[in-house]
Amino acid sequence: MIHTESEEYRMSDSAGWVRVARAADVPAGEMLGVEAGGRQIAVFHLEDGTWAAIDNVCTHAEAALTDGYLDGDVIECPLHAGRFEVRTGKAISPPVDIDLRTYPVRLEGADVLLRVEG
Ligand code: FES
Repeated sequence: MIHTESEEYRMSDSAGWVRVARAADVPAGEMLGVEAGGRQIAVFHLEDGTWAAIDNVCTHAEAALTDGYLDGDVIECPLHAGRFEVRTGKAISPPVDIDLRTYPVRLEGADVLLRVEG
């Protein structure tokens, strides 16, 4: 079976890991919104070289967090400036008070993978 590149990046293995991006597409200090497992997910490549992933939809309303502002390991929502800790998904300043789901991230070669199941 032949897959296009975009299809390939949505394939998951039996453990639920899904390729979502090339690591080179997300430099340190940057973030990327992806879709995996039917969810909108924000992937972060933090300044210290580590990676994190959380739901990309703010728990206060419907804003995409990747349209907001990344400050170290904190993301600020573009709509009402609620803030979340991207490593834990924890809501840390009003008006947000519901945490975000987090996802395991790993690199495989040049690719970034998320585990979206289980
Ligand atoms: S929608 Fe994110 S703080 Fe209101």
